[in-house]
Amino acid sequence: MRYHVRPTASPLIGSVRVPGDKSISHRAVLFSAMADGTSRITGVLDSADVRSTIAAVSALGAVVEIIAEETDGLTLLVHGWGSDGPVEPVGPIDCGNSGTTIRLLLGVLAGWGIHAVLTGDESLSRRPMRRVTAPLAEMGARFETAEGGVAPVGISGSALAPADFDLPVASAQVKTALLLAALRAPGTTTVCEPAPSRDHTERMLPGFGVPVTRDGLCASVTGPTSLTAADVAVPADPSSAAFLVGAALLVRGSDVTLPGISLNTTRIGFLRVLARMGADIDVTQGPDVCGEPTGDVRVRFTERLDGTTITAEEVPSLIDEVPLLAIVATAAVGTTRFEGVGELRVKESDRLAAIADAINALQGGAVATEDTLTVTGGRPLVGAELDSLADHRLAMAFAIAGLVAEGETVIDRFEAVDVSYPGFAGDVKTLMEGTSH
Ligand code: S3P
Repeated sequence: MRYHVRPTASPLIGSVRVPGDKSISHRAVLFSAMADGTSRITGVLDSADVRSTIAAVSALGAVVEIIAEETDGLTLLVHGWGSDGPVEPVGPIDCGNSGTTIRLLLGVLAGWGIHAVLTGDESLSRRPMRRVTAPLAEMGARFETAEGGVAPVGISGSALAPADFDLPVASAQVKTALLLAALRAPGTTTVCEPAPSRDHTERMLPGFGVPVTRDGLCASVTGPTSLTAADVAVPADPSSAAFLVGAALLVRGSDVTLPGISLNTTRIGFLRVLARMGADIDVTQGPDVCGEPTGDVRVRFTERLDGTTITAEEVPSLIDEVPLLAIVATAAVGTTRFEGVGELRVKESDRLAAIADAINALQGGAVATEDTLTVTGGRPLVGAELDSLADHRLAMAFAIAGLVAEGETVIDRFEAVDVSYPGFAGDVKTLMEGTSH
């Protein structure tokens, strides 16, 4: 689908509830599927990625009942496979576009004596899986991957031994896969990472009855142990909110409030960076929801933003927001430099190359190296035809650019937004019309 966008004459005004957090939704569904008993999950993101996880756990023997489909997400009852373990699936499990689904499932299945084949779409079939299969193989699981260590991945689970890992890359997907596998290994497994990646797993597992010991950049679990059903409420997704934050900052006269967002510090690096750039953003802390801090984010159009440097240390806390931040940086005074962003090259697309190409096509200034991105601010953007590369976050970042670029911007393969934020275009329209929900 081609999406046409022009600069808006009307500011974005009002409040919208962005959908449930994608990372937390995946984990809530998976942990419930692994648990003994019936879990109830509210506010689950209804998107293609989360549907992939629901279909996958169903193929493995969990029973997922969708008891409500509301605008603020799905309410699910999940009857887990629990201590009996997953059943061997009858055919390959299609993880669609979802890196979180495939990588976390590899950890979930590693310690059970069944064979499964995990596949995905064209994008997922290019993404590296060895970062998960290699450490899981050290624990005792066996894999066959396609050439280059990519999907389809065949997994034969078996008895696992605990291990200590020092991860070379800060990746919550890898960390989580290892911690989930470790639940089946007799003894303590410790996973240490070079910088703090999102910690939803560490926060959610105790609610399912599994203690997690944390020490700085390390997390440990002790197996063998099993999960017990829990009730989980999913807060709103800061990564989806980021696009509306960016729109409000760039469109003159805007004043937008986004309630109930997860304010987990491992996720809101983009708010810290924007504050440094001078953005007019107020955060009001709300209640903790299932171990996650939440609150309301109010953002107003900001006449002057200043360029900044985003260090490699900060990157894991804003990994999915780099495309949006790069678009915001085009409107800043001076240069914005992102350091240590090489991981973006192995996301749903090569986001580093794609964002630099798009900014240049819009007549801004951007240069990508192997692991840096430099954006020269202050050059007015001019509409262009851009390809999302079927990458949801690129599609939305380009749409925000189109709201301020002179003339028309056309985005190809815009349906990619369904991966994480199917209601994105509707929410932007709602804010432009000033009719909140
Ligand atoms: C995710 C972790 C991140 C992130 C992805 C979701 C998760 O990936 O980019 O969108 O839910 O654990 P990495 O762990 O590979 O950095």
